[in-house]
Amino acid sequence: MAKTPLRVAVTGAAGQIGYSLLFRIANGDMLGKDQPVILQLLEIADEKAQKALKGVMMEIDDCAFPLLAGMSAHADPMTAFKDADFALLVGARPRGPGMERKDLLEANAQIFTVQGKALDAVASRNVKVLVVGNPANTNAYIAMKSAPSLPAKNFTAMLRLDHNRALSQIASKTGKPVASIEKLCVWGNHSPTMYADYRFAQIDGASVKDAINDDAWNRDTFLPTVGKRGAAIIEARGLSSAASAANAAIDHMHDWYLGTNGKWTTMGIASDGSYGIPEGTMFGFPVTTENGEYTIVQGLPIDEFSQERINLTLKELTEEREGVAHLLA
Ligand code: NAD
Ligand code: LMR
Repeated sequence: MAKTPLRVAVTGAAGQIGYSLLFRIANGDMLGKDQPVILQLLEIADEKAQKALKGVMMEIDDCAFPLLAGMSAHADPMTAFKDADFALLVGARPRGPGMERKDLLEANAQIFTVQGKALDAVASRNVKVLVVGNPANTNAYIAMKSAPSLPAKNFTAMLRLDHNRALSQIASKTGKPVASIEKLCVWGNHSPTMYADYRFAQIDGASVKDAINDDAWNRDTFLPTVGKRGAAIIEARGLSSAASAANAAIDHMHDWYLGTNGKWTTMGIASDGSYGIPEGTMFGFPVTTENGEYTIVQGLPIDEFSQERINLTLKELTEEREGVAHLLA
């Protein structure tokens, strides 16, 4: 018997990430090849944006996706998020050359207050929310705080692009396939302060750290390459990453909903106090997922270098949070 369709709300649906994301959701890449979906697409009320959204929807229609059970365009989050089982909050202003993601704080924070409230009012009580719009961790924190009747665990921020970037760098350094790398994680904020950590990573059961055996490469090449990859793409393309961001959003939701089979991934989630990260802080953690729930990987030793890096990214997140406190008062 066919499964009941799940409702997927996507904001910023006519933007660059939207253009890479929607077709893959409708194609079953996110929730499974036997799972029908209904797309509820939100854009700003602006005539041009709504017209562009209609154009994207015409293209989605033209794909005749067998799993697409419905699709609607919205300018109001209260209708876009109605009964949503999943919400991908992409819509926000992207940064341009020379900007840091936190420069977007003021411009984008307002959006996530409004959208958090709307999710609180009308979404499914089990809605799984992924914030992609930058600064993603703090926006996810704002949305979570603006939705007090929904469980805090329903709100997540996208660190998966950083995780995938780190995987790809390790694969290229070791000459091993991406799929063979396990137990990698990225701690903290989706910003250059993030701490991509391969101390526990393994390839075919062997330690990646021992295989690389080069602390200088870690410090001077790997961490800056992963941390500043977003800026490098903006510099090269003149636009921020889009297809890789959409791919990471698909991976994040797929793994959250369908499970990682014991494997680690990275999700930005509200801390439960693990590893000394204050409760509620939206922080990248190593997690495993099962039955639609994530669990932080516990008991990992944190050496001095790692603690310094974790402190640095936590400090930045704390400052960002203080910067938006007035919006949540
Ligand atoms: P874009 O400008 O191409 O598209 C954004 C779309 O959002 C636009 O169509 C705009 O009209 C719409 N929008 C703006 N405010 C909205 C609102 N309140 N409600 C609904 N829609 C709204 O940008 P993009 O390249 O698609 O990037 C979107 C966001 O994702 C940016 O903030 C970008 O920095 C971020 N991003 C995050 C990651 C990550 O890893 N977390 C990666 C890449 C990009
Ligand atoms: C990225 O990491 O590519 C995105 O967050 C876009 C950006 O502003 O860096």
